[in-house]
Amino acid sequence: MSRSTAVTVEGVRKRFGDTDALAGVDLTVEEGEVLGMLGPNGAGKTTLVRVLATLLPPDSGTATIFGRDVIKDADLVRRSIGLTGQYAAVDELLTGRENLRMFGELFHLSGREARRRSDELLERFDLAEAADRTAKTYSGGMRRRLDLASSLLIRPRLLFLDEPTTGLDPRSRNAIWEITRELVDEGTTLLLTTQYLEEADVLADRIAVIDHGTIIAEGSGDELKDQVGGQVVDIVLSDPGETDQARVAVPAAEVAGDGRSLRVAIDAEDALSVVSQVADALSRAGVEVRDLGLRRPTLDDVFLQLTGDAVSEDDDEVTADMEISA
Ligand SMILES: Nc1ncnc2c1ncn2[C@@H]1O[C@H](COP(=O)(O)OP(=O)(O)O)[C@@H](O)[C@H]1O
Ligand SMILES: [Mg+2]
Repeated sequence: MSRSTAVTVEGVRKRFGDTDALAGVDLTVEEGEVLGMLGPNGAGKTTLVRVLATLLPPDSGTATIFGRDVIKDADLVRRSIGLTGQYAAVDELLTGRENLRMFGELFHLSGREARRRSDELLERFDLAEAADRTAKTYSGGMRRRLDLASSLLIRPRLLFLDEPTTGLDPRSRNAIWEITRELVDEGTTLLLTTQYLEEADVLADRIAVIDHGTIIAEGSGDELKDQVGGQVVDIVLSDPGETDQARVAVPAAEVAGDGRSLRVAIDAEDALSVVSQVADALSRAGVEVRDLGLRRPTLDDVFLQLTGDAVSEDDDEVTADMEISA
């Protein structure tokens, strides 16, 4: 069977009041591919997913799913897609099992088929033991798994995962990652949105970076990281008043959002020698350093590079989660 194009998006715009949630998006996703849509809070990720899932008509532009128009052929499109949102669409008062049965009815599965698929998915998502407890007793990770299970009842050809791991602890996040990889191995095409470069990197074949409703970069995780040099040297000054002196000593350094730390994007290959050159230059200039470390680039760094701006919202969550301090 030859591969077809799963998603095409051409010039899609959506405005809410004064906000251009989508300011002309062009995108394609091939069947079997995992596209990671990476962007900060408010970038337009959910709006795009809602347009593609036929839940929101765009103001202009066109979008197709497996060749079907999301407006004109909305019913056909719905039959081929599954959607898991950032805020799990789980009914708290129902048990895990009942939640899945409810979705089964929604998708017009026979009672028997719904039961069989539910049992299979509860088992697979490690929810069998908790299946007859109400969902309000579930942890965040369990809810997210239940929500994902419900979007898989009909084995969609294309699955939208909208920030599937935001706010989850590392263990739950790994569980979602594992399931996601299995789905991809089974041939499900995936459009995954995330605020985490690492997540896009681990799961996606290709990453599209979105900001203010526009796609500002596209490539593999390595290609994006290479744009910011592959490694970053972080320098925290003892005295923020010495920032200018530090920049004279290390001209390649950029000042981070907090005003007291600097970062230098460098190539991964000569990381160690650059670290020692930076340390030498600072000490010769008499600049006191509280902390100096080497790390992989984060979403924040990619953004700083692409837009000249640090991530505006929620960057505390992103950096706290992603940075491995040296
Ligand atoms: N229903 C809505 N009404 C008004 N503004 C909205 C609505 N949905 C989204 N927005 C705005 O559109 C922009 C993009 O939002 P969204 O697509 O939810 O971003 P993301 O999912 O990347 O965080 C934001 O500025 C958001 O406030
Ligand atoms: Mg969103």
